[in-house]
Amino acid sequence: GTLRVRTQDKGAPLGDLFGIFFEDLNHAADGGLYAELVQNRSFEFDPVDHPDYHALTAWEIVERGQGRANLTVEDERPLNPRNIHYAAIDIVSEGDGVGLANRGFNTGIPARQGERYRFSVYARRDASFEEPVRIAIERGDGTVLGETIIRVDSSEWKRYEADIVANATDNGGKLTIVTKGTGKLYLDMVSLFPAKTFRDRPNGLREDIASLLAGLKPKFMRFPGGCLVHDGSLDPDDRDSMYRWKNTIGDVAQRPARRNNWRYNQTLGLGYYELFQFCEDIGAKPIPILPAGYDPHHKRIVPIEELGPWIGDALDLIEFANGGASTEWGRIRAELGHPEPFGLEYIGIGNEEVGAPFFERYEYFHRAIKEKHPEIKIINSSGPFAAGGEYERGWKSARDNRSDLVDEHYYQTPEWFLAHAGRYDGFKADDPKVFLGEYASWGNTYYNALAEAAFMTGLERNAHAVALACYAPLLCNADYVNWKPDLIWFDNHQAFGTANYYVQQLFMHHQGDRLLPIEASGFEAAKPLREATPIRGTIALGTEGSSVHYSSIRLVNNATGETLEYPDVSLDQSGAGKKQIFELGAADGDDYTLHLRARKDGGGPRGFNLYFGWKDDRN
Ligand code: AHR
Repeated sequence: GTLRVRTQDKGAPLGDLFGIFFEDLNHAADGGLYAELVQNRSFEFDPVDHPDYHALTAWEIVERGQGRANLTVEDERPLNPRNIHYAAIDIVSEGDGVGLANRGFNTGIPARQGERYRFSVYARRDASFEEPVRIAIERGDGTVLGETIIRVDSSEWKRYEADIVANATDNGGKLTIVTKGTGKLYLDMVSLFPAKTFRDRPNGLREDIASLLAGLKPKFMRFPGGCLVHDGSLDPDDRDSMYRWKNTIGDVAQRPARRNNWRYNQTLGLGYYELFQFCEDIGAKPIPILPAGYDPHHKRIVPIEELGPWIGDALDLIEFANGGASTEWGRIRAELGHPEPFGLEYIGIGNEEVGAPFFERYEYFHRAIKEKHPEIKIINSSGPFAAGGEYERGWKSARDNRSDLVDEHYYQTPEWFLAHAGRYDGFKADDPKVFLGEYASWGNTYYNALAEAAFMTGLERNAHAVALACYAPLLCNADYVNWKPDLIWFDNHQAFGTANYYVQQLFMHHQGDRLLPIEASGFEAAKPLREATPIRGTIALGTEGSSVHYSSIRLVNNATGETLEYPDVSLDQSGAGKKQIFELGAADGDDYTLHLRARKDGGGPRGFNLYFGWKDDRN
């Protein structure tokens, strides 16, 4: 065959095409990119975050020899109103020392020989308590891997800091805080960071994970979610609040802990300032996503007449990122240490939202932002990709509002990606541009990575229609998996990129500036990878942890558009393995999109696991 590249042509600009998407799921931030080694440092873990959590999650009492103490969590004299819980150690008998220990994440606190670690804590004491407090990283058998001493000298809250140098390497350590004497000692914001963080930023990021991200050379970073953005209550002062960016900046001790919708606690230590800073450090344009005053999970909706503060959050964020040091929010950014603007160009309103309440509210955001900041490109949402329905509505809203971009999301089989490499060939240049904000084939195998690579050639080839694209999810702590596949896997001491990572890297490293027209002739059309043989199968749905009422189930064959509807279905059983069976015909290689509208019945835990399986009934 022959390929002709028209080098004289100006071609379409490729812009910021390939970037990354950071969301704190799979413990991507706490226990991940955020370098804090202590879990539950401010004793704010709560059953609201996860039914198994309590204020002393990840902590244990230390009583050596005849030492006895009462370890409790109190809230009478808090550090501040946003950080109300703290640990109280009431020494009954000192023995060989009493105190508490934190087990960190994964197998424990990792210590590396010769590395320096920065311990800090807020503490106060009873007048009767005078002894030094010994801080150590210890092995499970009590061997000391490094230690230091602080002296708590005030009955008012005061911050103490000290360094520990590790004398050996061990990935299963504990941080112990042990003392003697009599009286009571109070502790909050117990923190241990490696002294060396990515680019030496204070309150910084883990070097290995951040370096893998920097090594991609992404053109942009979308953050902070994902469903994480819009799942929550409407009150920013509520601990169950949606993700409100103003709660995430400034002194970490003043940031309120939050229920992360991925069923754990989010400290918000890695907040908007750190995320903007990280984008700058790795040369990626920041793309923040804000909630639109609508929680599609719990159907919480801000009345239109109360949308002002939500739109205000968007306008203030633009000022925080770009405003001069004389503006209200620009000054706050300067005070935090960054007088220069962060150069924000894009903002996303909503994540994967569909439905009238979202599109109605989007209009108000769009108008207010464009009026004040016509230079900012606004991203609308098309919801998860599926034939017809809400997805089309997202595009209609984007066209009607003249949104700059539309955020599309899809997770599909590798075969689907191979079959849809030409998905954007027919998209029009004068429509809003596509922001492919989340996509991945189901797996981390070489085959998955290759299928994604094939698909990405179709993104590059259609620069007239596709402006931005990022794989999802990005990060996964191997011991706290909410979602897989993921681009980068890690635990408490190591991180590695998948085959999919190296495909992303290849495309990002070799992204051109302009797309030159190519003509191909004399090539044979690719043969289908699999033969389509009609089969009969069953789909099994089951729940664990809670009874679930599925108000509707819809199955769409993405190849043929054939749709099966189950309008009112209940699975009123709980426990893994219990299933309801639906029958349908299918062909090898066909893929389906399953739409579920589910609500949980009765009491029990807040969340539930949903099992979905396919069984080929031919054998
Ligand atoms: O990427 C994981 C999740 O997938 C995101 O939070 C959400 O937007 C989508 O449903």
